[in-house]
Amino acid sequence: MAWHTIEPASKIRLGEVLPFTVAGKRLAVGRTERGYFAMDDWCPHQGGSLGEGTIEDECVLCPIHAYGYHTLTGEGVDDGEQVEVYPVELDGDVLRIRIEEDLE
Ligand code: FES
Repeated sequence: MAWHTIEPASKIRLGEVLPFTVAGKRLAVGRTERGYFAMDDWCPHQGGSLGEGTIEDECVLCPIHAYGYHTLTGEGVDDGEQVEVYPVELDGDVLRIRIEEDLE
């Protein structure tokens, strides 16, 4: 495991989700009233970019067919699929994301 940073964290506004590449992974990183979250930027339905989606009721809605994935658990509310979510910590205006490194 290693921590990776996005800064300034405040470039992600409340209610916004954006795509980032962190440690070679495409992530959807966003911010709700509960705080920041990070999940895979890939919708299990047909591969939409969740980082280009919207947030509604603590879920990221895919921009392609609007399937929702919970920001805390990654659970798909429409299709029962699962998106991986990553632990995050906020340190001032620095967002740290913990990602398991590929050992290949
Ligand atoms: S590709 Fe995401 S809902 Fe269809």
